[in-house]
Amino acid sequence: MVYFMNGGTRMLELKNVFFNVVDENGEERNIIDDLSINFEKGKLYVITGPNGGGKSSLAKVIMGISEASKGQILLDGEDITEKSITERAKMGIGYAFQQPPRIKGMTVEDLLKLAHGGDLPKEDCCQYLAAVGLCSKEYLTREVDNSLSGGEMKRIEIATLFARDLKVSIFDEPEAGIDLWSFGKLNESFQKMHEEKDQTIIIISHQERILELADQIIVLEDGKIKTSGSKDEILPEILNQVNGTVCEIQGKAVYNG
Ligand SMILES: Nc1ncnc2c1ncn2[C@@H]1O[C@H](COP(=O)(O)OP(=O)(O)O)[C@@H](O)[C@H]1O
Ligand SMILES: [Mg+2]
Repeated sequence: MVYFMNGGTRMLELKNVFFNVVDENGEERNIIDDLSINFEKGKLYVITGPNGGGKSSLAKVIMGISEASKGQILLDGEDITEKSITERAKMGIGYAFQQPPRIKGMTVEDLLKLAHGGDLPKEDCCQYLAAVGLCSKEYLTREVDNSLSGGEMKRIEIATLFARDLKVSIFDEPEAGIDLWSFGKLNESFQKMHEEKDQTIIIISHQERILELADQIIVLEDGKIKTSGSKDEILPEILNQVNGTVCEIQGKAVYNG
C-alpha cells in the first residue's frame, strides 16, 4: 500500500520497506510489509494499532537499529538506507525507546548535555526535565542506572530528545509507566514542541490524548497500514472500532497495550 500525502516537504520517506524475520518454524515473516510512507517536515504523526503490529519494529528500522530487508529510506532527500545508527543520529534522527537502556556512571545532567551535543546551561537542563514532569533538583545529579524507575527513565530519555536539535523525533509509547500528572505535562510538551519547532514528530501511542495532538494518524496492523489520514478523519473511526475493548490505564487508551 502506498501512502503519500500531497503538499508539504518530504522529510522522511519510506519506499517499499520490508523487515523480515525467520520464525521458529523456519518460515519467513514480514514484520514490516512493503511500507511506503512520506513523513512531512513540521508535522506530528501518531502511529497506533494493535500490539505486535510492527510499530516498534518500524521505529527501529527508521533509526537503523534493525536493518530493512528491502526498500529505501530517505532523510531530507538523502538515501540513508545503508547508514548506521550513529550516522543517522548525527543526521538528525532521534528515537526514544519503548524500554530505554540504562547507562551506569552517567548522571542525568551529563546525559542531557551529551544529547544536546555541547554545553547546556543548568537552567536549560532544568527546563527539559520540567517538560517531562520531573523536578530537576532531585534528578540532575542522579545516575542513569537501575535506581531510576521505569517511568523516570522513560521521562529522562524523552527529555534528551527535547534537548536535541533534530529533524525527526520518534517517541515509542511515551505514556508507558507514567503517572497521570506527568502524562498531562508530557502532552503539553509535545504540543509545545510541535508549535515551536519545525521538526517531524512521530509518536507511537495508544492514548486518545496523544492521538488528539496528531496532524496525521497511521494505524499499523500486521506490518501494513490499515488506515491513515487526518486526525479528524481517523480518530472517530478508531474510537468507534475499539468501543468495548477500551482499557483504562492512564486516561483513555484506544488500543489494549
Ligand atoms: N528481531 C525479531 N525477531 C523476531 N520477531 C520479531 C523481531 N522483532 C519484532 N518481532 C515480532 O514482530 C512483531 C511486531 O513487533 P513490534 O514491532 O514490537 O510490535 P508493536 O510495537 O506494534 O507492538 C511481533 O510479533 C514481534 O514478536
Ligand atoms: Mg512496540
